[in-house]
Amino acid sequence: MSGLPEQLAENVVQLALRRGFFNPTAEIYRGSAGFYDLGPLGALMKANLVNYWLETFVRQETSFDVYLIDGSLILPFEALKASGHVDKFSDPKAECSRCGRVHRLDQLIEEGLGVKVEGKSIEELQEIVRINDVRCPNCGGELTGFKEHHLMFKLAVGGGEETAFLRPETAQNIFLNFKRIAYAMRAKLPFAVAQVGRSFRNEISPRQSIIRLREFSQMEIELFFSPNRDYSIRDFDDVGDTIIKILTREEQRHGGEAIEIRAKDAVEEGIVPNRFLAYYLAKEVRFFQSLGIPPENMRFRHLLPEETPHYSGGNFDLEVKFSFGWKEIVGNAYRRDYDLTVHSKHSGEDLSIDDNGVKILPHVVEPSFGVERILYAILEHSYLEGMRDWPVLKLPRIVSPMKAAVLPLLDRENLTSKAWEIYTALRKGRRQLYVLFDNRGSIGRRYARADEAGVNLCITIDYQTLQDNTVTVRDRDTAEQVRARVEDLEELIFNDMYRGLEV
Ligand code: GAP
Repeated sequence: MSGLPEQLAENVVQLALRRGFFNPTAEIYRGSAGFYDLGPLGALMKANLVNYWLETFVRQETSFDVYLIDGSLILPFEALKASGHVDKFSDPKAECSRCGRVHRLDQLIEEGLGVKVEGKSIEELQEIVRINDVRCPNCGGELTGFKEHHLMFKLAVGGGEETAFLRPETAQNIFLNFKRIAYAMRAKLPFAVAQVGRSFRNEISPRQSIIRLREFSQMEIELFFSPNRDYSIRDFDDVGDTIIKILTREEQRHGGEAIEIRAKDAVEEGIVPNRFLAYYLAKEVRFFQSLGIPPENMRFRHLLPEETPHYSGGNFDLEVKFSFGWKEIVGNAYRRDYDLTVHSKHSGEDLSIDDNGVKILPHVVEPSFGVERILYAILEHSYLEGMRDWPVLKLPRIVSPMKAAVLPLLDRENLTSKAWEIYTALRKGRRQLYVLFDNRGSIGRRYARADEAGVNLCITIDYQTLQDNTVTVRDRDTAEQVRARVEDLEELIFNDMYRGLEV
């Protein structure tokens, strides 16, 4: 149990601050809305998450080749003009005439009136505000200054003669590099390109700690394929049997529930537009289940036509149930050939490639993962109270920042030096395990600290260790203790990291 849902978010944020998962940027100057830093534990957890994602979606992918790139964060005006971001990447806003607070208009209306207004023009939104007398939730003041708010951060490069932007998504580097990658790697369709990195959006109202940020990280894949061929995907036979939950457009209109369907059948029945997209939806369900998100807390929402970009063949947001409601953590889109077409046109470079002797512009399926939202989702799903006298962070073992804590039972020279020897061997050993050494305070306090930080195992060095070279190994989740030989510790901790991944 983790207390009342509304308390959970507060507890998680407090724990994150206390234990060094995340905190506002420039906190000593009262921070800056929408910017957060990851602390020592958060940075380790992120590195582990990214590594696990790369393992799952890049390194272990055998259905098609996936190439990883690392592109520039700053992109020139022309590239983002072509992609449509310069002209269309904006949210509607309004200002309170009394307190001056700026609000994101669509969210304000949706939350205040409980109606969806995605895709409506600024004039239509203004009319809804007028008819329903929607006011500033902060002070009740009248709304004014209705306009579109551009979401990109603009930069003056060099002496200011060149305009550029901080990239609003990592995806664009992939499209811009598409032809070079295809030639350099002698790539054959279908193939994918992945990237992990920072994206920037000047959000009107950043909120919920690391959920809506102005600077965040994405893990994105663009999968390129020919729309003219009926592919069989090598691993689809296995992955396609996964049950996925889809909140269909029809169910959304009736206020209904998500349907449960095998990924394979979702394609057969025309709910998901192609096998590649279904393949990723199924892989995502497995990935997040292995990260401790139960299937009942995940659903794919098929975006309504008015929310879907005109070029898209279908968007399916993976939403997770948080303490504050359902929220997207992965955007899945069938972008067709939109990006390659617009970049071909604006750059004058023909981005079509050879597919079995025919020149084509490939179509694209894109899963786009938000790192901070995923970290937060995992933290909320791992936070437990009431199990012990202190909170326990039951993190998925593969992403927990620290794999083990090495603890001398008492702060005595003979125990401490033996513990230090074990700690050093684990850190420098073949598996290079990230373990911590702690000899401060009572053993009970140290167990509590380790539990709160989500440390998988506690290794205690006691007087018996000095006699027979065995230690106690305490499991974070059960608090059970077993005796193990020091020479077995490295493999024991390493294997323990992979527990729970067989979904
Ligand atoms: N290339 C497609 C794309 O960027 P998106 O749905 O706008 O799609 C993908 O973003 C994911 O990035 C989201 O599901 C979310 O996890 C994350 N994300 C988007 N905006 C964010 C923000 N302001 N703060 C934190 N994460 C964000």
